[in-house]
Parts: sequence; C-alpha cells; structure tokens
Amino acid sequence: MFEQVTVAPPDPILGLTERFNADPSPDKINLSVGVYKDAEGKTPILHAVKEAEKILLKEETSKGYKPMTGDPAYGRCVREYLFGESHPYLDDPRAVTAHTPGGTGALRVAGDYLAKVHNAPTLHLSDPTWANHKGVFTAAELPLDSYPYFDKTTNTVDFAKMIEAIGQIPAGDVVLLHGCCHNPTGADLSNEQWQQVGQLLKERGILPLVDFAYQGFAEGVEEDAQGLRTLANICDELIVCSSFSKNFGLYNERVGAITIVAANAKQQAAVTSQLKLCIRTNYSNPPAHGAAIVQTVFNDADLRHRWHDELTAMRNRINSTRQLLVDKLAEHNVSGDYSFITAQRGMFSFSGLTPEHVKTLIDEHAVYIVNSGRINVAGITEKNVDRLCQAIKAVVG
Ligand code: LMR
Repeated sequence: MFEQVTVAPPDPILGLTERFNADPSPDKINLSVGVYKDAEGKTPILHAVKEAEKILLKEETSKGYKPMTGDPAYGRCVREYLFGESHPYLDDPRAVTAHTPGGTGALRVAGDYLAKVHNAPTLHLSDPTWANHKGVFTAAELPLDSYPYFDKTTNTVDFAKMIEAIGQIPAGDVVLLHGCCHNPTGADLSNEQWQQVGQLLKERGILPLVDFAYQGFAEGVEEDAQGLRTLANICDELIVCSSFSKNFGLYNERVGAITIVAANAKQQAAVTSQLKLCIRTNYSNPPAHGAAIVQTVFNDADLRHRWHDELTAMRNRINSTRQLLVDKLAEHNVSGDYSFITAQRGMFSFSGLTPEHVKTLIDEHAVYIVNSGRINVAGITEKNVDRLCQAIKAVVG
C-alpha cells in the first residue's frame, strides 16, 4: 500500500522551521514562521493569558464537548473585536460566528462551505499572498485566481491595478482581502481604498472574504479593524476568518473564528446549518481552552487592560526592530535603500531578497527566510541583528 507513496514537498513556511530545528549551526536564525519573539528571542506566554488560565483552572467544571460552532459568548466576543463594541452585528441574527481551530481552520471551513454550498465559486487571492492560502483552498477544491496587489518598484499597494482587476471579476465570485498587516508584504489599504474596494465589490455582487490574523499588530486593535468595519458598513454579506494566535500569543491553542454575515436572519439560519455540517464532518467541534482564555481576558477589565498593554509592547518592539534592521543594514553597507521596511506594517517585512538570495542565506548562513523574501521582523534581536546583516551583505553585496 505505502510503497508507491512519493515524498511531498515541505511546507514553504513550516517546513523551514523543521529544517531550522534540525540545523546544528549554533548561531542559526529563524525569520520564517510568523511567531512573535521577545528581545531574548523567546515566544512568551502573555501575563494576561497566564492569569486567565489560573482562573480557568479553579473555575472550569467540565471538559464536555462544545457546540459545533463553539460557545455563543465566544462568538459575540469575536464580533466585538471585529466590528466594535456598539456594532449592530454583535446581536444581529444575520451574523454568526463559529469558533475554529485557528485562523487556518477558519479558512478551511470557509473553503469547504463555499465549495459545497455555493458550488465552488472562483476565489481571487492577492498576488502575492500567504503561502498557505493556495494549499488550503485547493484542498477545499475551490478554483483559484489572483488579482495584482503589490508594486515591487515602490514597495506599496498597486491600487490602480488591483481595482482594475477586481472590476473584471464576475458576480458570485469571492475576493480574499487581508484585514491588516498584509501577509507577506506588510502593505495595507488606506481607509479610502477600503471604501472604494467595498463599493466595487457590492456593485459587482462579489463576496468579500477577509483574512484577519494580525489585529493589533499595525496600529492598534481598534485602528486595525477600520478597513474591515468600512467594508462591513458597505457590504450586506461577508465572511471574516480571524485568529487570536498572534495577538494573544495563543499559537498552539488553535483559537480562531469564522464569522459570516448574511443579508437577513432567514438566510443566516440556513448558512449556519450548512456551516455546522462542514464543521461536523471535519473536526466535529472546536478545542475549548484557547477560546476560554480569550473570553476570560475579555470579561475581566484588569486582564483586558493588561493584555492591551502587552499587545502594545509587542507591536512597539516590532516597530523599533524595523528601524534597527534598517540602521544596521546601512551600518553594514548593504547595497540598496531599505528605508521602506519602516513603512511596512505587522510582523513581516517583504525585504526584496530574491529566491536565490534566500537559498544562499539558508544553505550557507543558516538564516531561514521564506522564499518570497518575507522576513519575520519579530525574530530579529539585538543579539542576532549584526550576524543577520553580515549574511545579507554576503549575498546581496
Ligand atoms: C505565517 O505566515 O508564518 C503564519 O501565518 C504562520 C503559518 O501558519 O504559516
């Protein structure tokens, strides 16, 4: 049975961490997977999370199954982060949220739902996009296409081309947008641009699917949701796939959500029934612990405040590290202007390094970067930045 099995290619992001872990080099640097690291290079458990876990340890009374869509209270809490505390969608019967195993789980449920219930409409991804989008949606058997997003010459969003391409997409297709901290480019739409995109999608009858995994890493929890909120005010129907992996540091708890807004309560009931079917035949019901942490923090004013401060500290460290990287690249006389790195938002920097540069950095310098040239800025520390810049100098000149 297994003799005929051929070896699958490694995952473009997680495969690098596997390679990194197996690398014996003492000063190896991992800037691949999007995981926050502190100044010591550690991925900390947030204090607010630890405190919430203490409360849960005392108060939790059962490990019984959760509903297929998770706790309704968790869903409401997700919608409050997404849409804001006084938004009608918090209690609107048109909106449903299902707790999913991470943001990836949310995307897969969205893919399965669209493929099964909507006869597999074409999904349009930004070019470039998160390396796993293609894999997730291909596995769900959705036809894929792409729209231009990024201008490598200016390191900004190529909005004219993006709008022109979306203007050609037929009604009934789906467009995936990154809510903030575009992965991998770090280049986001302005509020005016969100407005324009929203209006175009609505006019053309295209469904927006927003991947929102980095809320709080660009400017703040509220600020980063402005684009999504603008879209939600324009479009009557939308899907949002969100995650608390990054902003709560709950990577291994797999705590995400899919939120679907339909045009009316009747449609929503039907959508929810189909969503449950997708979940039941996939993982049955979600893991509870991560969502319980998020809710405990959310419901406790002190913990919420503490979480907010910790998230701000993570964001500030990433932003100051961007400046450190730019300064050090200059100090090491690396050719080129890297000042654009400080304008990028979120965890990643789209460095402009080519696949050839990346290959040499990995093979000869034990510096692990995603093939697209995407660098996880949070992986850079005062201790490794000089070695990193020396390696980049050696490959770039
Ligand atoms: C990333 O882009 O590195 C993160 O979203 C983690 C992942 O699963 O790829």
